[in-house]
Amino acid sequence: MNLRNIIMAWVLLGTLCLTAQNVPTYLDGSKSVEQRVQDALSRMTVAEKIAIIHAQSKFSAPGVPRLGIPGIWCTDGPHGIRPDVLWDEWDQAGATNDSCVAFPALTCLAATWNPDMALLYGKSIGEEARYRNKNVLLGPGVNIYRSPLCGRNFEYMGEDPLLTSTMVVPYVQGVQQNGVAACVKHYALNNQEVARDRINVLVDDRTLHEIYLPGFKAAITEGKAWAIMPGYNKYNGDHACENSVLLLDILKGDWAFDGVAISDWGAVHNTMKVASNGLDMEFGSWTNGLNWGTSNAYDDYFLAKPYEKLILEGKLPMKDLDDKAARVLRLIMRTEMNRNRPYGSLNSPEHYAAARRIAGEGIVLLKNDKKLLPIAPDVRKILVVGENAIKMMTVGGGSSSLKVQRETLPLDGLRAKAANRGIEVAYERGYVGDVTGEYNGVTTGQNLNDNRSADRLIADAVEAAKQADMVIFIGGLNKSEHQDSEGTDREDFALPYNQNRVIEALVEANSNTVVVALTGNAYAMPWLDKVPAVLQGWYIGSEAGNAIADVIFGDVNPSGKLPFTFAKSLADYAPHAAADSLMYPGVDGNVVYKEGLNIGYRYTDKLRADRVNFAFGHGLSYTEFSLGKPVASARQFNGQGTIEVTVAVTNIGDRSGAEVVQAYVSDAKCSVERPIKELKAFQKVTVAPGQTQNATLSFDRRAFAFYNPTTKLWTIEPGKFEILIGTASNRITAKIPIEVKEEITWKD
Ligand code: BGC
Repeated sequence: MNLRNIIMAWVLLGTLCLTAQNVPTYLDGSKSVEQRVQDALSRMTVAEKIAIIHAQSKFSAPGVPRLGIPGIWCTDGPHGIRPDVLWDEWDQAGATNDSCVAFPALTCLAATWNPDMALLYGKSIGEEARYRNKNVLLGPGVNIYRSPLCGRNFEYMGEDPLLTSTMVVPYVQGVQQNGVAACVKHYALNNQEVARDRINVLVDDRTLHEIYLPGFKAAITEGKAWAIMPGYNKYNGDHACENSVLLLDILKGDWAFDGVAISDWGAVHNTMKVASNGLDMEFGSWTNGLNWGTSNAYDDYFLAKPYEKLILEGKLPMKDLDDKAARVLRLIMRTEMNRNRPYGSLNSPEHYAAARRIAGEGIVLLKNDKKLLPIAPDVRKILVVGENAIKMMTVGGGSSSLKVQRETLPLDGLRAKAANRGIEVAYERGYVGDVTGEYNGVTTGQNLNDNRSADRLIADAVEAAKQADMVIFIGGLNKSEHQDSEGTDREDFALPYNQNRVIEALVEANSNTVVVALTGNAYAMPWLDKVPAVLQGWYIGSEAGNAIADVIFGDVNPSGKLPFTFAKSLADYAPHAAADSLMYPGVDGNVVYKEGLNIGYRYTDKLRADRVNFAFGHGLSYTEFSLGKPVASARQFNGQGTIEVTVAVTNIGDRSGAEVVQAYVSDAKCSVERPIKELKAFQKVTVAPGQTQNATLSFDRRAFAFYNPTTKLWTIEPGKFEILIGTASNRITAKIPIEVKEEITWKD
């Protein structure tokens, strides 16, 4: 090395040292997130701390401009990335680069019973969020399906805490791989839309911990979600956003949550309470998420000037403000200030493929008498009937409404596939339901008006049905008020708009009639005995038509399983059984979950087995499976490790397919009442015809425990348990006795 090079090397080294010294710790990517957070916090004024913990626009919060710390941009929602709205208004910003892929609704994802699909979903939607420069995805929703009337059930993952927990973890991980925070919602007990902003939920502790919290707990403790959204409702007298039990004791105490609790839009009501009881960020105040509110009210937010004043007067402690600000900074470091995060992608072929694949796995074949599906080779002429065959479903339903790049309608998907096979597809409307198609300024552009009378519509459909080899009725609910929609609950368990009459008339005219229901909820099926085939199609998003056609024509062999019970009538769901208004929708602002643990199959399998059309976990395939005798690794459980159960699944049909082996645990004798059985493990296995694959199911101590509200301990009493193996909650094929010799307890 000559002298010149030595001098150059010294100069370079000096410059590097100087630069390194000048980079503040909070900007130094080589430092830990915690070091960076604490450094940033130490440089901030009270006003700056206050600024970052509340909104500055409908969906953003400011960061710290003086320090070059970027702000936070949130986006709905669970099924796709919401189009941009104006700064302070719900109207569209009018961007031309904010259309997205609509993924299937979360009910459909849950119906895949496949955590790999949840990971794919989270990864894909996270990539779309990242590409659109959003840091926080306002989803997924994990509220338990308590009543089939709840307007937002389509955004959730069904009635079972284990299924929900198993699916939410990979979803969250997939989103966050992109440096985008998942914000799990709506914490907790937000199980109805009627009076959602004021209803006070009263539920016993055991039910809270066993049914309503596990999905959130899994998202936080296993998925490591960086954000959570306390909902609109109250629990035990306090709004969820101001509830010290939910936020301080459970979330930040028991679950050691280190992320940000972000209020639902307009769910905060009181500065003292919200500041002291564990909420970190306030959004949407006076603009309840759906309506117009005071313009530019951000300084008046409960966590803005009013909070700053109380801090400066010494009436509220600085340490709480520091904690909130540190959490927000941590969120920024994990997302926007994480230089290693990928760039994401929007509307990519991979995302459409993911949407179609998830949908294909989530569609549930409920009934298939006469093997009407998949469409037989000799079918030459199909009649499609029903509004949902031609109606865009991605617009509407509340905050999950989207502006899609494209949406293949069911009729178009079926026609495209039929054309390839030389099959003619005719269409008849059958009924007119909801012809609107607008949400927050996004319009479908569809004109669905039809002036024919109800009788005429039916007569025309019947006439056409007589000419067809088979009829596919595509109906169900939709995303308008009092259907599957945020802000309102359904008013009726029946299908709306005269659809039952249409279905009855069609099946009388043509016995080869299939009913395809696009809904996010169960519904009454008075025609079930007469209709040979029924498919549950959910809201499927951009690839709706293609995914439905894949299943109907047999390119995809259905493997979806119901994530909630399809009972015969409303009264067959425990919250409605007694027609007690206190249980639903509440009286004088209170709703009491008197049914306790008896949600969905926990109730029907015990008391109303004959009142179920399709049980939790039910779903058919175009092939058939037989389950071998299960083999357990142990017959005794001492609280340590796991018991493994292996079940051989043989495909005894002639095409490849997937079966979900389900394991329920039952504790016949216990000092407290326990549900007749509870899902504790499941695995989906794909098996080629004539082949056998093993499903392996794992049971740890959580599989046998109940929550003891007195001791606040999870408890396994000594005695005899049974692991029940089957393919639906009401189709159990084998039982394995398990013995526990001594009591086992532990704290969360
Ligand atoms: C909904 C949330 C949503 C928020 C922002 C609220 O009305 O309850 O789920 O994320 O609005 O749009």
